[in-house]
Amino acid sequence: MTGGIERVACVGGGVIGSGWAARFALNGIDVWLYDPDPDAGSRAEVVLANAEHAYSRLFGDMRPAPGALRIARSVAEAVDGAGFVQESVPERLDLKRRVLAEIGAAAPAGAVVASSTSGLLPSAMQEHMQHPERMLVGHPFNPVYLLPLVEVVAGRRTAPETVERASAVYGGLGMKPLVLRKEIDAFIADRLQEALWREALWLVHDGVATVGEIDDAMRYSFGLRWAQMGVFQTYRLAGGEAGMRHFLEQFGPCLAWPWTKLTDVPELDDALIDAVADQSDRQAEGLSTRELERIRDDNLVGILEALERSGPAGWGAGALLSEARQRMRERSGG
Ligand SMILES: NC(=O)c1ccc[n+]([C@@H]2O[C@H](COP(=O)([O-])OP(=O)(O)OC[C@H]3O[C@@H](n4cnc5c(N)ncnc54)[C@H](O)[C@@H]3O)[C@@H](O)[C@H]2O)c1
Repeated sequence: MTGGIERVACVGGGVIGSGWAARFALNGIDVWLYDPDPDAGSRAEVVLANAEHAYSRLFGDMRPAPGALRIARSVAEAVDGAGFVQESVPERLDLKRRVLAEIGAAAPAGAVVASSTSGLLPSAMQEHMQHPERMLVGHPFNPVYLLPLVEVVAGRRTAPETVERASAVYGGLGMKPLVLRKEIDAFIADRLQEALWREALWLVHDGVATVGEIDDAMRYSFGLRWAQMGVFQTYRLAGGEAGMRHFLEQFGPCLAWPWTKLTDVPELDDALIDAVADQSDRQAEGLSTRELERIRDDNLVGILEALERSGPAGWGAGALLSEARQRMRERSGG
């Protein structure tokens, strides 16, 4: 039992919905998954197997008995008796509104209803809902069962208790709920990611670099820094003893130089799509998606464990892992 929730519904079981199902189930919570795609159940089992592999490395025998993962035939069947509903259907406002209205009409009165949207505003999504006060955004990161951040965003009609309850449930799953102060399109993390993504596409478009070279530029350098200190603390250190003030003095002026194309968007015409997709296929060097996911997960486990060993109580995501292990140890009585 986590955050007082014994049963959850996951509506939409693609990349993100099945990741949520795995995180809930491996924290001992029963999951009912609804997805109209007949292959959704088998896909969710594959994701669950990946997640089990990662959790056995992270938590070993401390893990609680996993919750059951069951496939529902309708939204109503999935949400019946659920204390928490996580919607992860495709990113289209009309579809989200329709599915959330269906969830709102069928879910128990006390259930929190969270949407995984990457950037739609909760105020727009809750418009046609009965009980909009219990709806908010809980925006996760792929793979949901390993990455701790979840951006919690309230809409105009969301009740403050809903934010508190959702944050408590996510916290109980070993996640880091980041409650947004303002409701803005794309929230915090996707604004940052999109700025970099747009720039990366320009570099391919202009023939400056291949997708592999751009990834190398990140993963051999600032990607390693970002995982543990983010951007501001990293730049503080780049300013030497004089810190952030010196960094801003030194590099502030170049922000006005035309280094980046942040406000322009490259046209995603066939030529650019072919270039990015073909180079990406070559970059995979014959590894399947499943194989790449396993490599990604093993690397993430290693990074999380390294951060856990930093200092007396761990650092950043590693401190959170340390707390999650402690909680599991206490629950398992070991
Ligand atoms: N992929 C990511 O990295 C990522 C990260 C964070 C958030 N998100 C958000 O999560 C949501 C889902 O994205 P995804 O990447 O998992 O997409 P996806 O295409 O992998 O999965 C969507 C699933 O929803 C199902 N679906 C369609 N209509 C449905 C309905 N009426 N009821 C129930 N299920 C339905 C589809 O069959 C599919 O399995 C989107 O809002 C997206 O913005 C995605």
